[in-house]
Amino acid sequence: MTEKDFVPSSYTVEKSAGTVRWKSPSNIALVKYWGKKEEQIPANPSISFTLNTATTTTSVKYKKLGIPSEIFKFDFLFEGSAKEDFKPKIIQFFKRTQRYLPFLKNYHFTIESSNSFPHSSGIASSASSMSALALCLVDLERELDPGMTTEFFNKKASFLARLGSGSACRSITGPLVQWGDHVETEGSSNLFGIDYPYRVHPIFEKYQDTILLVDKGQKQVSSTVGHNLMHNHAFAKERFAQAHRNLTTLKGVFETGDVTTFIEIVESEALTLHAMMMTSLPYFILMKPNTLEIINRIWAFRKASQTHVCFTLDAGANVHVLYPENEKAQVYAFIEEELLQYCEEGGHLCDQVGSGAKKL
Ligand code: DP6
Repeated sequence: MTEKDFVPSSYTVEKSAGTVRWKSPSNIALVKYWGKKEEQIPANPSISFTLNTATTTTSVKYKKLGIPSEIFKFDFLFEGSAKEDFKPKIIQFFKRTQRYLPFLKNYHFTIESSNSFPHSSGIASSASSMSALALCLVDLERELDPGMTTEFFNKKASFLARLGSGSACRSITGPLVQWGDHVETEGSSNLFGIDYPYRVHPIFEKYQDTILLVDKGQKQVSSTVGHNLMHNHAFAKERFAQAHRNLTTLKGVFETGDVTTFIEIVESEALTLHAMMMTSLPYFILMKPNTLEIINRIWAFRKASQTHVCFTLDAGANVHVLYPENEKAQVYAFIEEELLQYCEEGGHLCDQVGSGAKKL
């Protein structure tokens, strides 16, 4: 498929007013997206577990204007109050998507959003919020074009979500979504995420993710800035090649349930992501001393307990602790006993792999 396939030709139904509402989850990358080209095209393929509990719920109330507007007309409310500082991100999203959603300037939108997790938790909400908004807008488009298939709906939602925030394209479905051209993954695309198309061993079905909130503050360096620092990065070429290799290895891992190799890839990906940050120019460090304390405790516990707990990181200090469901009691006891002391006010979120966004 190409971008052109997402440009609609005409609509069969007229809609003057209505509301659409979606709940969309966050996701946690196992192979990381870090580095991009123009138009939100990833520099390397990535794969993530879709989460279940960390979600954004967004409703879009639409009302047709008498005459199409010159500018995008919308109000934005976050957790019940008007939020002006979110508006530029939405305007940018509308600008990038108007070619694919030609009705955008025909309506006034009231967009209301809320998160299931605390706003100031340091948890990135761009994946869940951009995917929820993209889903609402494709849902409105489906009302104008009721013949749209579910397959196309999901692809277009992912395609549009990507234009809002790259990782958001992996939040439409679940439990495993891959995004970015990878020769060994049939159907993979730089334009949208796809459901992982091969066999996945049951051990990965209900994988647990306990998110440890090490630092609830605002990040000093945004992901967008970080991605850009991969241009002319001394290690970029090798890093992108490594992501391709890791995805190839994961294929066998998912099929056989080889958790040992899974751990090796996931932890290496997390540390490589942060190594890229530390070796870019300008360089920066997002991990905190407590991030390292937690990582060391996880390694020591894994060795002593023979469990399969491991960690991953996103672009921040928080730690995602991943483990199979059948080890939940033992690992969670360890988290409570040894790791929560390193979290800001003991903050953490218990999540697990989920099946994707839901229409409300
Ligand atoms: C470290 O999707 O937030 O979480 O496309 O600029 O919005 P933009 O970036 P974003 O980057 C996420 C990076 C990451 C890794 C990942 O989720 O794959």
